[in-house]
This record gives sequence, C-alpha cells and structure tokens, in this order.
Amino acid sequence: MVSSKLQTAADIFTCAAGDFKSVHWNVRGPEFDVMHEVAQHYYEEAAKDADELSEWTAAHEGIALNPNDASSRISWPTDSKTYTRDAAVAKFTDVITTLVATLETLLDEGTAIANLAATRSEFWTKELSYFNKSREPTQQGGSSLGGSSL
Ligand SMILES: [Fe+2]
Repeated sequence: MVSSKLQTAADIFTCAAGDFKSVHWNVRGPEFDVMHEVAQHYYEEAAKDADELSEWTAAHEGIALNPNDASSRISWPTDSKTYTRDAAVAKFTDVITTLVATLETLLDEGTAIANLAATRSEFWTKELSYFNKSREPTQQGGSSLGGSSL
C-alpha cells in the first residue's frame, strides 16, 4: 500500500513543475532570456522528480495523478500571473523550499525512496542556498573582500 507521504510528494512535484513552467512562459523584463531558461531548467528537474515519485506511487498501488487532479488532491494554490525577474526569483525560493521540505518527509521511507529523496534534496538544496540565493537582489553595503576598488 502506498504511503500518503509518497503520494503527496508526487502531487507536490507535479504541481511545482507546473509553477516553474508558468514562470517560464510569463516572466517579463530585460532579463527575460535568462529567467526563461532557468525556469525551464527547474521545470525539467521537477517534472523528472514528479515522474519518478509518481512511478513509485503507482508501484505501491497508489494512483499517480495528472496535474489537474494533483492540484486538487493537495489544494495547491492557483498562481498564474506575470513575473518580474525578482518576483520569479522569489517564486523559485518559495517553491524550492517546499520541495526540499517535501523530500525530507521521505527520508524514513523504504531504501529506494529514501535514497532518491536524499539525492534530490542535495540538488534542490544547492539550488536554493547557492544558485537561486545568488540571484536575489544584492544588498547595499555588503561585505568587502579587501581588494582594491578598480
Ligand atoms: Fe518553452
């Protein structure tokens, strides 16, 4: 029998993939090209994880859901709109934080699922704490590395 945590994780990744795709289509502004590509990259990674988690759900006799049904099973919020570059970065932070927390709920599942969750948690945690964090608007008066200012 499928664990509800696994089924929920499959639904969350399915919905998150949709949110990344929405940013891919709807981001606007001078940094459109790069944000369009980053959102596509996140869409592909989340969709691959959704596929893996959905297949494990089906393997345990659960029902793997299409995006429409997944969003209602977990009450995923509707959030289609246009995004500025900074709004897209903030959206990535929100969604990836949810993905990391979701993967952590799977670490006490069976070995295959726990290993998958640990591996994918590494990927998403690095995206959250390094790559996407580095995209956040820079703070004034940040630390100096002591070099000369040329
Ligand atoms: Fe596209």
